[in-house]
Amino acid sequence: AIADKAGHRHYMSKEIAEQPDVLANALEYYAGDNEGGQMLEAGVDFSAFDRVVMVACGTASLACLVSKYWVEQIAQMPVDVDIASEFRYREAPLDARTLAVFVSQSGETADTLAALRYATGKAGKVVSVVNALESSIARESDLALPILAGPEIGVASTKAFTCQLAVLASLALQAGRQRGTIDPAQQRLLTDQLRQVPGQVAQALAIAPQIKAVSAQLARYDHVLFLGRGALYPLALEGALKLKEISYIHAEGYASGELKHGPIALIDEEMPVVVLAPHDGMFDKTVSNMQEVMARGGKIVMISDGPGLKDGGDGAWQKVEMPTIDGPFAAIAYAVPVQELAYFTAVEKGTDVDQPRNLAKSVTVE
Ligand code: G6P
Repeated sequence: AIADKAGHRHYMSKEIAEQPDVLANALEYYAGDNEGGQMLEAGVDFSAFDRVVMVACGTASLACLVSKYWVEQIAQMPVDVDIASEFRYREAPLDARTLAVFVSQSGETADTLAALRYATGKAGKVVSVVNALESSIARESDLALPILAGPEIGVASTKAFTCQLAVLASLALQAGRQRGTIDPAQQRLLTDQLRQVPGQVAQALAIAPQIKAVSAQLARYDHVLFLGRGALYPLALEGALKLKEISYIHAEGYASGELKHGPIALIDEEMPVVVLAPHDGMFDKTVSNMQEVMARGGKIVMISDGPGLKDGGDGAWQKVEMPTIDGPFAAIAYAVPVQELAYFTAVEKGTDVDQPRNLAKSVTVE
């Protein structure tokens, strides 16, 4: 079985390391003239819809939440994101002007499949974004878009998450193009920024020693808070989800701006706060949230870029330097430190990384 792990100690670390390659493949496939690009163009006309609903479970639902920021910003189209177990029972109104998108690595998650069946015949079109093309969710949708991540064995989803993001980013670009909300120059810029993602992910992988050092510290704590803003907010949720799943440390993810509406009451030196803070338009707001934490004796793990650490890193307990990334797709590369924090912390604690207790890779029962 060691051979299957390509020299890695766990499937999870192998799958984290594969991300630059699988992302490059997926983005190439969905680029304009290629097979996937043609399938997208022929299969989805965003000008025929007024809104998008996106439904999934677990990590896949967090990919949907990231893409809400992209589709709303790039295509000026409202997006509702729902977890499947709520959506399927809520009797949410759907009509022919609604595009319904279901995201699932396995394509077999029971709640997501039931939600898809609910939407079938009500929404204008049912599109799935799946890793397993031979799956119920793929078969029952009007259009199934493969994420091309290859087999994912580790229970905690990693490369499937970033490949879902790559496909959803391609969809957001197409939506902007078809709805005329981005001009050709913006299209070129965004396409170029998306093409840079695999390289940025490779750069993020290269800072593993920094993440490992932080993880050795985190492993000693019982509670960790993750904060992020904008498209980094779902990454904060993903960081908390991953950490609790595989290291069993209690973790919460919050939008940075919600800090003062609750979690700040918990801040003390016993609960490190991981802040995802690229030097973007929201940076100053995030820094003031960090200062609120530090003023109460809280310990900040700041994950930012060179300019961000220089402008806002004073007083941080731990600092991690990511590459500088322009544009809305920075969230994809920030998946790497988030995944690795959980991975190295779990390894430090000696938990079963690939088969965490009580969890299943694919939840095919309710
Ligand atoms: C389980 C897995 C998660 C996954 C979720 C949704 O909880 O442990 O890693 O994100 O199911 O699975 P799906 O196959 O629908 O993406």
